Amino acid sequence: MAGDVEKRIAWLRGEIRKHDHLYYVLSAPQIADQQYDALFAELKQLEAEHPKLVTPDSPTQRVSGQPLEGFATVRHAVPMLSMDNTYNADELKAFDERVRKQLDTTDYDYVVELKIDGLAVSLRYENGVLVSGATRGDGEVGDDVTSNIRTIKAIPLSLLAGDGRVPAVLEARGEVYMPTSLFVELNRARTEAGEAPFANPRNAAAGSLKLLDARITASRSLSFFAYAPGDVSESLGDDHYHTLEHFQALGLPVNPHIVRAGDIDEVIATCLSWSQKRLDLDYQIDGMVVKVNRFDQRDILGATGRAPRWCIAYKFPAERAATVIESIDVQVGKSGILTPVANLVPVQLSGTTVKRASLHNFDEMQRLNVRIGDTLLIEKAGEIIPKVLEVKRDQRPEGAEPFVVPQTCPVCESPVVKDEAGVHIRCPNPHCLGQLKERLRYFAGRGQMDIERLGTSLIDQLVDNGLVKNFADLYRLTIEDLTALERMGDKSARNVLDGIEVSKTRPLWRFLTALGIRHVGSQSAQILSAHLGSLEALRAAEPEELEAIDQIGPVMAESIAAYFRNPRYQVLVDDLLAVGVRPQAEARRQGGGTLAGKTIVVTGSLEHFTRQQVQQAIKTAGGKASSSVSKKTDFVLAGEDPGSKLDRARQLGIKVINEQQFEEILSGEDRSGD
Ligand code: IVH
Repeated sequence: MAGDVEKRIAWLRGEIRKHDHLYYVLSAPQIADQQYDALFAELKQLEAEHPKLVTPDSPTQRVSGQPLEGFATVRHAVPMLSMDNTYNADELKAFDERVRKQLDTTDYDYVVELKIDGLAVSLRYENGVLVSGATRGDGEVGDDVTSNIRTIKAIPLSLLAGDGRVPAVLEARGEVYMPTSLFVELNRARTEAGEAPFANPRNAAAGSLKLLDARITASRSLSFFAYAPGDVSESLGDDHYHTLEHFQALGLPVNPHIVRAGDIDEVIATCLSWSQKRLDLDYQIDGMVVKVNRFDQRDILGATGRAPRWCIAYKFPAERAATVIESIDVQVGKSGILTPVANLVPVQLSGTTVKRASLHNFDEMQRLNVRIGDTLLIEKAGEIIPKVLEVKRDQRPEGAEPFVVPQTCPVCESPVVKDEAGVHIRCPNPHCLGQLKERLRYFAGRGQMDIERLGTSLIDQLVDNGLVKNFADLYRLTIEDLTALERMGDKSARNVLDGIEVSKTRPLWRFLTALGIRHVGSQSAQILSAHLGSLEALRAAEPEELEAIDQIGPVMAESIAAYFRNPRYQVLVDDLLAVGVRPQAEARRQGGGTLAGKTIVVTGSLEHFTRQQVQQAIKTAGGKASSSVSKKTDFVLAGEDPGSKLDRARQLGIKVINEQQFEEILSGEDRSGD
């Protein structure tokens, strides 16, 4: 009887492996999903009844339909380095000069490749069999995404023997990407299903590879190109070009557009030619990669920090697009500055839809001579707000009138004034509701008092209904006030009030930032709060006292002192204290801050800080922000979706804190050691 079970299990495994191969590798399924599922279910059932018969290579133990709980981490045998960038021919020439100087010869050549815009992974084959696939992570340690990697049909599960030379260990590095046509298809399906579309193919590929359910990854049609060896037990060639040929012979997919270039002029010509040709590809590239071909010469060149000296990326210029201005709005900022904003015919640019572009100020607008109906050339580099490059004068529709610079504020109709520098025009009315709304938005914003659920439209309602005329009024709102508003139920109203209540005890620096004093951002607010220790001290400080603080200049010092001398703001701050706002004072610091001498690694995303802000906050408090976890790390600050650094911290027994604890440490009330 037991023998029968063993036989049946062996047969089921054989069948499942065969159908996996037919489906994933050969793309030629022979049975329906239902039949496959039945085989699988039977195997799982038998293994559950006979746990001793489970083997690690059983199909139930690899991909299958079992979502993982999380990814294990993998330490790369050879670190995955990053690359320096160049943006034009001169920078490429300068790179070549450095190479020539260091090699002290002109006898070298380059390989020029497409820079695939996806996600770097490292595949490890042992004795020809794929044993693991990992993301780049921080270059040292990545996530083990083997089960997802296995679903990528372009990646062979075992290498071809070819001429018989299959190395004992072969790591192939390359890029997982999503073909553009399939990305468009995926987004169409997601939108139809009411799911949020991905911003671009790179995000879609990264999101798909990091899914815990490999079956979903399998449905996402990812693909792969190998472009570099990692850890190898034996050389595959003396140079890069021949190594890639060897890759191909082993069945690994290598991009067909890789070329050798004898000198930098050839390199430049190749790079430039692709800035147009790339539009014909069914995958996205964000530049080119130029690599010194010979490995012995690479050894001479070595690496600086995290990037090799033998390789450089050439990034294509930022994407540009032409579109038409439908209308121009004038926005009132929190200090009264009026900004013209163009509403555009929506246009796709670097993977996002652009509908608006700031025209910065009226001087700039007049310089560009922008009119409604004009065709503009806009540019977007990375995440930056689109920039107007040029107005196509020859495409101006007949009768397009010049935009008239407003003489009055679009909200309160006060006559505008020019600011001191003469660049901006401002609404001078301190009671302007447009300014008030912007000030409230800033006050409640994430980097400041962080009042949850107090969003743009609620602020508009509160101001328009006369319920809030200043910051302190927020703290006087009642449940009745809120439920009387449109679209506001009892539960939502309570949540809003809870959010407001919680904000009463934010750290002093947040409160200080939230007031919106001219020239005082969160960074200066942290310095001020660390040095002065209390709101009282700050209110009483003379400009000279403030200026004596490191990194506080005379302009800021005067602006702060003027703010607290102004009777209007004195009343406002007193009023905030009266309604129960109690900014949490910082402990006075010795030795330069609450994080003096500490090394901190941040992983995952934080609610109250961007990456830059948290690094600044660490620095301001006297600490050092480091990017990799080592024994020297004092603690790891883990946010949402922490990466492999968290696992590494746990391996090394390093203290891990959350965002709230971090804020407590910053404000000198650390209780994490209790
Ligand atoms: S070589 C030492 N070749 O670009 C550098 N990288 O910005 C080894 N990439 O993390 C990488 N296409 O993800 C190389 N043909 C190519 C590439 C490529 C895309 C990515 C890779 C790397 C990133 C650096």
